[in-house]
Amino acid sequence: MTRALAFFAALACGRAAAADFGRQPLADPRDPPAYAPLSGGEGASYELGQRVLNTQWVVAGAPRAARIDGLGPLFNIGSCDGCHNDGARGRGPEGDGPVPGSLVLQLQRGAGPDPVYGHTLNVAAIDGLEAEAAVSVHYRARHGRYPDGERWTLRVPAYRVEALRDGALAADTVLQPRVAPALYGAGLLERISDAQRRRWAADPAARRDGIRGERAGRFGWQGASVSIAEQTARAFSREMGLMTRLLPADDCTPAQTRCRLADGGVPEVDDALFAAVLAFQQKLAVPAVQRRPESGERAGATLFAAAGCALCHRPRASVRLDDGRTVTIAAYSDLLLHDLGPGLADRDAAGRPHTRRWRTAPLWAVGLVPRTGVPTYLHDGRALSLEQAVLWHDGEAARARLRFEALDAGRRGQLLAWLARR
Ligand code: HEC
Ligand code: HEC
Repeated sequence: MTRALAFFAALACGRAAAADFGRQPLADPRDPPAYAPLSGGEGASYELGQRVLNTQWVVAGAPRAARIDGLGPLFNIGSCDGCHNDGARGRGPEGDGPVPGSLVLQLQRGAGPDPVYGHTLNVAAIDGLEAEAAVSVHYRARHGRYPDGERWTLRVPAYRVEALRDGALAADTVLQPRVAPALYGAGLLERISDAQRRRWAADPAARRDGIRGERAGRFGWQGASVSIAEQTARAFSREMGLMTRLLPADDCTPAQTRCRLADGGVPEVDDALFAAVLAFQQKLAVPAVQRRPESGERAGATLFAAAGCALCHRPRASVRLDDGRTVTIAAYSDLLLHDLGPGLADRDAAGRPHTRRWRTAPLWAVGLVPRTGVPTYLHDGRALSLEQAVLWHDGEAARARLRFEALDAGRRGQLLAWLARR
């Protein structure tokens, strides 16, 4: 009821503008709203889902924990919310030292997980077991100048993995540092049609700029998951050591014999709780960002398009809702993978660069990032500002970056200020 009221109040304020469906005012950050009114049953499962997102899971056999036990034995953080704070993105590193818990080190060897440590390096374990490792980062500065002489500095990360419980990593195991992305609007991203993605991938204007998008999954920084359900099952398994019907395994490998202890039965997450956390994510709105009614709006959008940013960060997409309506969202993504050059590539344990293809990051909540602490951008949080994020663009995005660099300082500022209002 209150949700429905808030929704219609937002409509009355003209917030849900025609080309920006899915935005809702965030009156209370602890209680993020849905993007559409929910029927009674839907409202109940949305609220249950929000509670599941906030649930701190406990070890198997803990007293009075019937539905929320089975955590671990290896895990990273014991709740979804610990990494995706009320739907917001996780924190990246502010400086040198141990990485925050919401930056996960995924592992890949060949086409699969690391044979010893699994899909993620788990930095926590239940009592009686040791964590797999401890991860820290060290940055070195890279300096440069714009054509007009103004200086910039970027920070280049190097990861250190210590206290490896089951021996050194193989030299060709790729370390994939990933900050937890925001969950806002995930359900709308899921509704962007494949036909639309195919059209974007074939767009001659993009091709002329050297941009060739590749279709993969829609979720994760590299589109590794095809759906919110798949990503959620993987999160339960790999980040929390919790089995679901969809993925009845945790991140223990055959090499880790003690890791099989203390599981709470299959599935540990029952179907009702899984369905609810899915329903919550599928209906979660994108918080509205304060936009003063200002003249810079059109100029910023024009600069963004003229630089070629919009060839990947697509400002408009049509999606069909459950009620049959077609609406236009402004996610600023084509949900395609692009090669962004060697600078952003993951590196293996021996320091050699590997994967460099990334899903175009949706920009529709980047304006909210500074709200939750020191802002960090890009897949590993290396950029401390929107400007730094843009300066890291290379590969297929090199031309767009060069056009951005060639703007005078006033126009660069205008474009960045516009980005900060997305
Ligand atoms: C330890 C931190 C951590 C926890 C706990 C965690 N996640 Fe994530 N989440 C991540 C990271 C890191 C990614 C990015 C994965 C990638 O790029 O492959 C991610 C990605 C996602 C995405 C994809 C978003 C997008 O737009 O790409 C969804 C959805 C998601 N998580 C849901 C959940 C749910 C639901 C839970 C709880 C069941 C959860 N996560 C628990 C770290 C976490
Ligand atoms: C070839 C496609 C492409 C073009 C062109 C492009 N981007 Fe991106 N952008 C990406 C991808 C892919 C990422 C994610 C990279 C990563 O996380 O390592 C990204 C990330 C970003 C981010 C960080 C988002 C976040 O959530 O942390 C910002 C800001 C951004 N782009 C702005 C721009 C601007 C401004 C332009 C134009 C000057 C531009 N991009 C041009 C593909 C592109």
